[in-house]
Amino acid sequence: MAKSDSYVCSKCDHTTSKWSGRCESCGEWNSISRNTKISSGAGKASIGNARGTLIELSGLSSEDVLPKRTVSGMEEFDRVLGGGLVSASATLVGGDPGIGKSTLLLQAAARFAQNGLKTIYISGEEDRAQIRLRALRLGLSEASVLLGAETNLRNILTTLAEEKPALVIIDSIQTIWADSVESAPGSVSQVRATSHELTNFAKRRGLSVIMVGHVTKDGQIAGPRVVEHMVDTVLYFEGERGHQFRILRTVKNRFGPVDEIGVFEMTGQGLSQVINPSALFLSEREEPSPGSVVFAGIEGTRPLLVEIQALVSASPHNLPRRAVIGWDSARLAMVLAVLESRCSIPFTGYDVYLNVAGGLKISEPAADLAVAAALLSALQNIPLPTDTVIFGEISLSGALRPANQTENRLKEAKKLGFSRAVAPTLEKQAGLKHMRQEKVVDLASFVSGMFQGVAH
Ligand code: TYD
Ligand code: MG
Repeated sequence: MAKSDSYVCSKCDHTTSKWSGRCESCGEWNSISRNTKISSGAGKASIGNARGTLIELSGLSSEDVLPKRTVSGMEEFDRVLGGGLVSASATLVGGDPGIGKSTLLLQAAARFAQNGLKTIYISGEEDRAQIRLRALRLGLSEASVLLGAETNLRNILTTLAEEKPALVIIDSIQTIWADSVESAPGSVSQVRATSHELTNFAKRRGLSVIMVGHVTKDGQIAGPRVVEHMVDTVLYFEGERGHQFRILRTVKNRFGPVDEIGVFEMTGQGLSQVINPSALFLSEREEPSPGSVVFAGIEGTRPLLVEIQALVSASPHNLPRRAVIGWDSARLAMVLAVLESRCSIPFTGYDVYLNVAGGLKISEPAADLAVAAALLSALQNIPLPTDTVIFGEISLSGALRPANQTENRLKEAKKLGFSRAVAPTLEKQAGLKHMRQEKVVDLASFVSGMFQGVAH
């Protein structure tokens, strides 16, 4: 094995072939040193005398395979984990600073402790008095969680080795530093080294670790991205600052489905779970107004109704504005192009604004039809009936494709008092009056038909 002859920046991990005083990638001074990583050298691997263990796939029983889980009792949290916390697993909870990660995890820690897991919460950001104050505010002052305020990895591992907890929460990974790494806490090399050590330690000792990682707006340099491939589960805590809704989303899970969401509401006493999010997301809906449509969506395994709002106004600019919150702007451009070329409804000369109410971000293609309906309704200034949900994918030809889990979407709509659905499916399902659409042109005439209904 040969040592590679290269130089690496301790701040951003940029590798170069020659030394310089300043990193050409991140601009940091004096951060370049010789890369001491050992490279294996392609093609040089040779056969040794120790062999690995192999297991027979066919002989496995479900007891060998199914991971052991503990539930917190917070259903919204357990669901995103895939049905509870897996023992000896590593989880990353990422999110913007101030979104509520510490609050969520302190609440979860208390629940896990209540359910019999010995739990340690280590904060590198707040001192013990501050955490206790928060616990008091959350009504958790009696919880049997052990608190630590520590940033040195060596001290943390020593504590864990002595205390032998079943769960440790590290808040946040950016504040922890290993003395074997020279760069500052929060730098890529530190975050990588500390999370790697913690994950390995957890696996070896059979304890679960949950790490908090801040996502910074200016990219992923010090963000938790470098940690994602090391851990078993990655959750992101999202939400708009001005809104009380918070969404915990599974983006990676070795033990369960991804795209699962848990919905919470930030209150004066911490986060409370939202068991019926559709009702909450629709609760802000006002009188029927042009541009407002209810989309019957699916998040993970759960149906979710949300309001999509569009505003279309004559543009004073040469290049009209397209602004989107909560949906993909490329997808909006596509829907606009299909409406223009397949239904001959021009949006040139108009500014278009699209918003998913409640601070939710949706990524499903099934929202296409709801967006198209919102745009048409806004453009023609026609309110759509308030008892109707809309969903379906639009293809570039203008044809509509059925969405997955149609039955679930319709059921949820019915449960919340909707009586009609506009969607590209065949049969009448779930007892809802069903308007079948095959092309976006049908949708355009449906929206114009509403106008006739209002006018006459
Ligand atoms: P926090 O959990 O500290 O965020 P993070 O760890 O992601 O940085 O939450 C910060 C915000 O939450 C803060 O602005 C105050 C608010 N908050 C409440 O509204 N209610 C509460 O009970 C608590 C503890 C915090
Ligand atoms: Mg915090």
